[in-house]
Amino acid sequence: MPADIRNRSTISHADVTALNFVRSSTPYVFRRHFRQGLRSHIMEILDPTHVEVEKTGKMVAGVRCFSKATPHRMFRIFRGRLKTLENALFEIGRVKIVERYLAPDFMARSTECIVDYRGPEGRDLMLCGFQEYVAGEILDPWTILGAADLLPALYETFGCQDSPLTLSKDNWIETVREKGSRFITKVKLMISEAGHIPDLAGAGNLIITASGGIRLVDINNISGVSMDPSIHLDEKGYPVCDKSIEALALIEEKILGRPVDMKADIYKWFLDPNRRRALKAKEALFWKRQAGN
Ligand SMILES: Nc1ncnc2c1ncn2[C@@H]1O[C@H](COP(=O)(O)OP(=O)(O)O)[C@@H](O)[C@H]1O
Ligand SMILES: [Mg+2]
Repeated sequence: MPADIRNRSTISHADVTALNFVRSSTPYVFRRHFRQGLRSHIMEILDPTHVEVEKTGKMVAGVRCFSKATPHRMFRIFRGRLKTLENALFEIGRVKIVERYLAPDFMARSTECIVDYRGPEGRDLMLCGFQEYVAGEILDPWTILGAADLLPALYETFGCQDSPLTLSKDNWIETVREKGSRFITKVKLMISEAGHIPDLAGAGNLIITASGGIRLVDINNISGVSMDPSIHLDEKGYPVCDKSIEALALIEEKILGRPVDMKADIYKWFLDPNRRRALKAKEALFWKRQAGN
């Protein structure tokens, strides 16, 4: 018997349609997305005719073109175990907080569902989501260069794709700055008013779109923000709240092209040099454990 779906390293269309809560006669094709994280299985939901065109190509001005099928939606299966229904509802409650501040412009909306999964170990609650698909390039706070290099480089990447950009490079950069500034303001409001922050630190969690938008796609690791001297770790041992605030500061600095205000409460607290030293030690421990897995 196959292992619990949450423990499998990869899954396929057949694994999804074999799930007790998915109709086996679904007309859609489920395909593993080319980007994956640690916490979820991310599956594209595709129209079979689009998959066919992707394989056989179509003639455009006498040339056979093979363009990638665009997902209707993404199907995500959260790998984490939900101990109780209350736990599951609590997680969904946190997603609602993020929605209140970031939807619809700055996040990929998701219909979150708690399902009764029948797996090899019996019945269990599982968290799934049907999420909007966001096309674009990853905005990685840890590798972004100076603002002057980051945005033109991203613009060039889009220029190579088959959907042509409608904005000139200068207008696109201006749009990213304007939307980025609104995104940062909303995240800061979520921190100050609702005391929560999504995971801005994880690989691929933020996507920058061809029209210059910034959207959060990973909504499964939202943490409470408190000015507590101890550094909070998530269930994987990662100091996600501190790292997300550090990521926010980097995005602010790189996209807006100016240093952050170190007198602002959150930055003063979380970016304090002594705290940063302690954070580095926690982070090193996390990566050491990851390497050992
Ligand atoms: N709705 C989506 N649209 C486009 N890409 C997505 C979407 N959801 C996830 N991805 C991509 O899949 C990868 C893993 O997704 P993520 O939500 O970060 O999963 P995890 O919870 O495992 O960290 C990321 O690189 C992300 O960019
Ligand atoms: Mg992620």
